[in-house]
Amino acid sequence: MKVSIIGAGSWGTALANLLVSNNHQVLIYDVDTKLVEEINNNHTNESKLKGVKIDVNVRATTNLNEVLTFSKIVVLSVPTKVSRIVLNNIKETITESKIFVNTSKGIEPDTGLRISEIVYEILTDKYVESFVALTGPSHAEEVAIGLPTVVTAASNNFESAKLIQQIFSNDFSFRVYTLNDLVGAELGGALKNIYAIASGMLTGLEYGDNARAALITRALVEMERLAVAMGASSKTLSGLVGVGDLIVTTTSYHSRNFQAGLALAKGNNLQEAVSSIPMVVEGARTTLSAYQMARKLNIETPIIDAVYDIIYQEKNVEVTIKALMKRSLKEEFTEL
Ligand SMILES: NC(=O)c1ccc[n+]([C@@H]2O[C@H](COP(=O)([O-])OP(=O)(O)OC[C@H]3O[C@@H](n4cnc5c(N)ncnc54)[C@H](O)[C@@H]3O)[C@@H](O)[C@H]2O)c1
Repeated sequence: MKVSIIGAGSWGTALANLLVSNNHQVLIYDVDTKLVEEINNNHTNESKLKGVKIDVNVRATTNLNEVLTFSKIVVLSVPTKVSRIVLNNIKETITESKIFVNTSKGIEPDTGLRISEIVYEILTDKYVESFVALTGPSHAEEVAIGLPTVVTAASNNFESAKLIQQIFSNDFSFRVYTLNDLVGAELGGALKNIYAIASGMLTGLEYGDNARAALITRALVEMERLAVAMGASSKTLSGLVGVGDLIVTTTSYHSRNFQAGLALAKGNNLQEAVSSIPMVVEGARTTLSAYQMARKLNIETPIIDAVYDIIYQEKNVEVTIKALMKRSLKEEFTEL
């Protein structure tokens, strides 16, 4: 099959490599002319996927019309802060409806919208045949070199979820499950990045394995509480898109959100922490969205609040994390 990808960052490029190895034809679009030339001429993406050889059959373009007419399936793989810009550009160019597959992980601040909601708001049913979120524990660096990875294709449209499952899965390195809880999948993928920042901070402070295990466990409780209040099924959060993605991102140096947490623990402010990382750090923006959403829904989210205080109120990392330990003592399964 033919597949169009919007965004030739580390994830878009890794997915392009995967799809070509699955014998599909791929055209990848990016606004960065130099990057597009590098992919077409050198078959590398050194700034985003260092040392990875990109399959010679992966072709790249800066022409949005070309990528939109290339395939019925359009994979979105851009930082969520540009999703609206990209979708408005698509709206000006698109002429027929598509199956949109989103791989970006975030929630829009102020509106609290998930990417599927933004896609439908801008492109409407006229151009969105169906929407699938492809998400789960997946570092681009590992997918790009064919290490075993298992993710989920979530959609309200079962046929489209099945189609995406079949296109992306193979017998050797990539396995895709389907899921009918789009809300839970989108929220799990977005929220886990907040806890990756927190985990990076704990590591930076050398707090040890006990603290990280506690963070992951309580993060799952908090994530589930907020996601369920926003319409997710609680079961979803114990799946690949929830606990799976939470584990991979809170325990790995591949995670930029984890790296940002490390930099924050060293005393850098958000700007300094983010600018030291060449790829997008989605968790910072999602912290703001989740904090706003939790206040709106009156959900108790102590870990999100702590990360918010550190990155947006510039509160001291150590003091803020220690304050979590001083919260009133509770029963584990009744209250946070
Ligand atoms: N990297 C991973 O391991 C990974 C895994 C799963 C999901 N994701 C998610 O995928 C999304 C993209 O992440 P990434 O790691 O590829 O980011 P990245 O920072 O590596 O690359 C982003 C790319 O988007 C391009 N871009 C920016 N504005 C654009 C526009 N207007 N039109 C087209 N392209 C534009 C940039 O030029 C860049 O090439 C994020 O939401 C991230 O959370 C990443």
